[in-house]
Parts: sequence; structure tokens; C-alpha cells
Amino acid sequence: MIKSICCIGAGYVGGPTMAVIALKNPHIKVTVVDVNQDRINAWNSQDLDFLPIYEPGLADIVAKTRNVNLFFSTNVDEAIDQSDMIFISVNTPTKTYGIGKGMAADLKYIELCARQIARVSTTDKIVVEKSTLPVRTASTIKSILKQSHNNVKFEILSNPEFLAEGTAITDLLNPDRVLIGGDYHTEGGKNAIVALTGIYLNWVTGDKIITTNIWSSELSKLTANAFLAQRIASVNAMSAICEVTEANVDEVAYAIGKDTRIGEKFLKASVGFGGSCFQKDILNLVYIAKSFSLNEVADYWEQVILMNNYQKKRFAQKVVQKMFNTVSGKKIVLLGWAFKKDTNDSRESAAIDIANYLIEEQAELHIYDPKVTAQQIFSDLERITDDNLQHLQEKVHIYNSTDAIFNNAHALIILTEWDEFKVYNYKYIKNQMLEPAFIFDGRNVLNSAEIQEIGFQYYGIGK
Ligand code: NAD
Ligand code: UDX
Repeated sequence: MIKSICCIGAGYVGGPTMAVIALKNPHIKVTVVDVNQDRINAWNSQDLDFLPIYEPGLADIVAKTRNVNLFFSTNVDEAIDQSDMIFISVNTPTKTYGIGKGMAADLKYIELCARQIARVSTTDKIVVEKSTLPVRTASTIKSILKQSHNNVKFEILSNPEFLAEGTAITDLLNPDRVLIGGDYHTEGGKNAIVALTGIYLNWVTGDKIITTNIWSSELSKLTANAFLAQRIASVNAMSAICEVTEANVDEVAYAIGKDTRIGEKFLKASVGFGGSCFQKDILNLVYIAKSFSLNEVADYWEQVILMNNYQKKRFAQKVVQKMFNTVSGKKIVLLGWAFKKDTNDSRESAAIDIANYLIEEQAELHIYDPKVTAQQIFSDLERITDDNLQHLQEKVHIYNSTDAIFNNAHALIILTEWDEFKVYNYKYIKNQMLEPAFIFDGRNVLNSAEIQEIGFQYYGIGK
């Protein structure tokens, strides 16, 4: 019976996942630990508006559980040793150095966690891989844990997380499935699977809990993300054909999505997918395939990334081309910076690439996002442009509301599908802009007929 859980990594996965586990398992003490003191301080802040992560419904759950059976701390050693089960939920970014640079997953944080668990544990533990990992990582973790000198027994499980940001809480409360990979041929492995299953059974029905061997579980997570991203890349590829044939990609997606074999979800054409997972996980898959000399498999999946890069570039080029082949010195408003609505996360957001293209074309950017901070936007731009903050501030202006942002603008570009962008008074906005006033709708969220009626030059995706 699990009495105490520790989760290493208080990020977009660790925070919301543990909040829900704590809510549904009041008899278990859940401690989320992180080396980032600022992040832990933010999780502990009195004002729930200052939690480090914005997710609808998260603050309510934290209010109910924090300091009851959910705790946030930087005391990693103590939390590890006091727990029966340890979730590893640290980041696994794409490597930026050495072998596999730009492709392989960087597992240095995973290895550090495994070493720390081996060093400080004095009682038996179940170690759960919650992070997304290359297939066979569990064997690395096992070898490291074997080095423990304290005569401690470890069982390893893989339990990848399928939540999407912006809907994390509803995804966690009503998952399509929970995947648990483990050594089901051994007694210890079976007991560990039962222990983790018991935690989920407090709110998820048994038919949704899938058990596989550990390698299938690790690989299923990469596969799921690759398939989801591939659908978006496919519909975006069709959007390019639509734009030259007068077909409408929204109509095409609707028509094909009605085929139950295809299904309706994840067929929304866009300026390109972003987020911390899709690109990283596909690159990781490509690297794994290459490392087994499966070059055709690697090329197949890499094409999803190439198509996504093409879509972003194609969109930016269209903006320049439609605005009489120059945006130099023109005021362009970017609405949205987050990689999707209802999150403050901008990792790999398409907005970053679009802004970079437009800065290279010497546009003057005016940016508004309801949840991403100015500091985050500048830090994203510093990284992609290699320019310093002072220079950037001359050509990029960030707003915390849309008051005055549209004055004398040449164009408005929608880059995130925030609900509020759908209900702005576009007649009023157009009166403040220069003529001809352009709207480039990178998310197809506006009613094109109504917008054109107002007098905008309107360009969506795939229409
Ligand atoms: P994140 O960057 O938001 O959080 C990771 C946290 O781990 C950071 O706060 C970091 O300080 C901390 N950390 C790193 N090394 C540590 C150590 N040795 N000790 C203590 N803390 C440490 O990352 P995330 O978005 O939560 O993703 C975590 C994992 O979950 C990744 O493998 C990711 O691929 C996977 N995942 C993410 C999502 C998502 O939507 N973000 C969804 C499913 C799976
Ligand atoms: C994804 C997976 O969905 C989730 O299961 C996994 O656990 C983590 O990675 P996330 O990246 O948080 O989740 O969000 P998701 O909803 O998948 O969106 C990713 C990107 O694709 C966003 O930029 C989104 O705007 C874009 N997208 C999504 C489209 O362009 N079209 C679609 O139809 C769906």
C-alpha cells in the first residue's frame, strides 16, 4: 500500500499530475520536488494567480490539496527517502551538444535523478518513469539503481503522460487511457504494477488502465506523439494545395474527418504545430531509427518535422508577399504567442519562428498574448535571433492588453487560437489601422466572410 509519493520535477507534467493524484488519493502524501527554487516558491505562493503554470482548473485543485496532502519543496533527498513511490518527471529536451546534437533526447537530468535515488534511498522504492523517454531507457535507470549501496530493492515502471497543455486537468481527470509498463513476469514487477494501478483506480475505471511490457510503454508514448503530429502535418500539407486550387481546408478536414476510420480530431490546419513535445519526440524517434540503421523509417518521420517547418515559412512568406513584397518598417500586430490557447507555455511556438522571419524582413512587431509574459517573449526572441535585448526592444513592442496596439498598424496576424481573439470588435479595430488593412489568420479562427465584409484583406490557412 503506497503511503507516500515523491515526484521529481515540478513542471507542466509533474505539477498538474501530482495535484490530481493528491486530490484523488487523500490518504497519500504527495511531495513534488524541484531544483528550481523560484518554481517551488511560485507553487507555494499564497496568491494562486502566481502559480508557475497556467492551466484551467489547476488553481482550484491546488487550493484544495496544498499543505493538506500535496507539498512542494526543494528538499529532494528527504522527499526521495521518505517515499514508497518516486515519479521522475524531469525535462528530456533535445540534445544541444555532442553526439545526437539536435535530435537525441538529452537524458542527463534523468541520469542525475537515478543516481540521486540510488544514493539517498534507504527503503525499497517503486520508480516510475513519467517523463517521455527513448525506448529502453528503463535499462539505463536499472543499471544505475543497481549501484545503490543501501541494500534497497527498486522496481521500475513506465507510466507516460498523455495530457495536453491547456486541457491538462480535464485530460488527467478523464484520461482516454492510463498506460503502465512493467516487468509483469516477475513477482516484484507485478506488485509494482498493482500498486500504481491502485492509485489510478481511485478515479479511472479499470478498463482504461492498460498494462504492457516496459519497452512497449516507452515506445507507445513516442508513437502517440508522432501519429498526432503527423495528422497536423498532413492536413497542413493539404492546406498548401487548397490555397492554389480554391478548395477549403476546413471543408476538406470536415469531410474526411466524418470517416470514422480517420476521425475528426487533430485535423485543424494551422500555422504549424508547436509545444515542447511533438518536435522533440519525433526527432528522438528519428534518432532511434537511425541508430538501428532504419534509415527509411527515420526519413519517413523526419518528413513530419520538415513539413511543419515548411508550413511556418510558407505562412511568413505569404504575409510578406501579400503586403506588396515588403514589410520593412511596417507595424505588424501579432496576436498570440503561446503554442496553443489556454497555456502560458511558448516552447517551440510557431509564433517564435514567424516573428523571426518578420524581424529579418525588418518589420516592427507589436505583440500581445493573454498569458505569456513580456520577459518570456523577449527571451524566446533573444534565443532565435541571437540579438540582444536592447536591440530587440527597438523593433519589438510587447503589450499586456490590446488597448492602443492596433493604432496605425498595417497588418494583424493571429498566431494562437485564444477565444478572446474571436470576439474582438474588428470593425472598430479596422478604423484604427492603415489602409489596406490586412489580417492573416494563422489559426482559421475568424469568419472570413464577415471579416472581408468589414473591408479587411483576409488570408487564412488553406483557403
Ligand atoms: P518542465 O521543464 O516544465 O519541468 C521539468 C522540471 O524538472 C523543471 O522544473 C526542472 O527544474 C526540473 N528538474 C530537472 N532536473 C531535475 C533534478 N535533477 N532534480 C529536480 N528537479 C529537476 O517539463 P515538462 O513539460 O513538465 O515535461 C517533463 C517530461 O514530461 C518531459 O519528458 C516531457 O517530454 C514529458 N511530457 C510533457 C508534456 C507536456 O505537455 N509538457 C506532456 C506529456 C509528457
Ligand atoms: C501533445 C499531445 O497532444 C499530448 O498527448 C502529449 O502528452 C504532449 O504533447 P500538447 O503539445 O500539450 O500535447 O498540445 P496539443 O494539443 O497536442 O497541440 C500541439 C500543437 O499542435 C499546438 O501548437 C496546437 O496548436 C497544434 N495543433 C493541434 C494543430 O495545429 N492542429 C490540431 O488539429 C491540433
